[in-house]
Amino acid sequence: MAATLEKKAASEAPSYVRTPAAKFLASLAVDRRLYPYDLAGSIAHVEMLGAVGILTAEEAGSLAHGLRKVHTEIAADAFAWRDDLEDVHTNVEVRLTELLGPLGAKVHTARSRNDQVALDERLYLREAVHAVQEQVLALQSGLVALAEAHVETVMPGYTHLQRAQPVTLAHHLLAHVWRLSRDFDRLSGCFQRGNISPLGAGALAGSTLPIDPAIVAHRLGFAAAFENSLDAVSDRDPFAEFLFDLSLLTVHLSGFGEELVLWASAEFGFLKPVPELGSGSSLMPQKRNPDVAELARGKAGRVIGDLVALLAALKSLPLAYNRDLQEDKAPVFDAANHALETLVALNLAVPALAFDESKMAKAAADPRMLATDLAEYLVAKGVPFREAHGTVAEFLSTHEKVDAKSLREFSAKFREDVGELLDVRRAVSRRNTPGGPAPEAVLGQLGKAKDALGLERYALSKHAESVQIVHEILREEPK
Ligand code: ARG
Repeated sequence: MAATLEKKAASEAPSYVRTPAAKFLASLAVDRRLYPYDLAGSIAHVEMLGAVGILTAEEAGSLAHGLRKVHTEIAADAFAWRDDLEDVHTNVEVRLTELLGPLGAKVHTARSRNDQVALDERLYLREAVHAVQEQVLALQSGLVALAEAHVETVMPGYTHLQRAQPVTLAHHLLAHVWRLSRDFDRLSGCFQRGNISPLGAGALAGSTLPIDPAIVAHRLGFAAAFENSLDAVSDRDPFAEFLFDLSLLTVHLSGFGEELVLWASAEFGFLKPVPELGSGSSLMPQKRNPDVAELARGKAGRVIGDLVALLAALKSLPLAYNRDLQEDKAPVFDAANHALETLVALNLAVPALAFDESKMAKAAADPRMLATDLAEYLVAKGVPFREAHGTVAEFLSTHEKVDAKSLREFSAKFREDVGELLDVRRAVSRRNTPGGPAPEAVLGQLGKAKDALGLERYALSKHAESVQIVHEILREEPK
């Protein structure tokens, strides 16, 4: 009799999720992927309940064992997910109660789904940030390797997409490395600010039981526990930051993608077609399209959309937890997936990029790009810059050919030595100011970029230690 009652109770959805609106309220489809974090968080929670004496050591041990069993079932795809149980948290709890009987019902002591979901999300966030950073660093390393091979490769530098002044390919590629360094750094800031445990905040106002949130925070590798329970259950700042960081990152990748598209076109011809950059056309046999670069360009839109969706959901919410917050997960998962996929594809493509150096050199040899050099030559001879600028502009508007002879005929201020200016390689070498494109300056820059990557590698290893904790907790068997 008791056994049948128990069975019935276990198969029936708990009263708090029973409503005619259940379908609308359900979040399982989105949040079930949080299960490893939910389970590791619950294990840390029951351990804490044991440590402070709310549960006996035996109860805490059995609960932790049961939670690991649930994890094994889910990981083996042997778990019967139930939509009528609303979310991942209730699915896990109901299954635990099926396995352990009334003891299972103790897992939720001094806890609410409000602090529980906030905890799960933070644990997910750490892992997602780490995964993105890993790919960002790989892309930077790929770009640095390419840059090292192209310290002497000259190409036009552009403003307004008009040829402006000559630079080196290494210098151009390193510009992207520095952008990505800032992206990496922003993600580290997000990791750090998000690395605070909200568990113990309860529904909004803590608990009357003698819980210790610091024990949970420490066990899960957080830097600290929350300071304010109202803030802890409602704070989605780390997610908003993450989405901004991903938005700017994908905006950066979209700019790089656009350059690859341009460079792969016959009009530029800087890149040779390689299969890593894309596929062919189903109709036109001659085509090799830079699809990877195009999609890298195209993905930023939806990531920005995800950021806007989250900010709009957060706007005007009163403290503390509101059900609107359930809408936070889908945009975060979406943005993280698409940013990661973009980075993975670019990491396949970048090492395979093959530059047509002769085409780049030819484009860079356009002497009109040395107009500033000519003006600066006059400045060195004592001509005020504005006057020098005017002289060279007038020369260029009246002459097709830019060579020493015509310059000297045009103005006596141009001497014999002006011919030396018109060699593009020498022109690039002269741009040897700090942070400039000259090969010598770029070699210094390369050293600094490698140092920056070394620091990133270290930050990544520290983040990996926190991320690993969740998986270690799930593997460990209680003593
Ligand atoms: N599915 C909810 C979310 O993602 C979990 C918290 C539900 N809390 C509640 N009081 N109904 O936000």
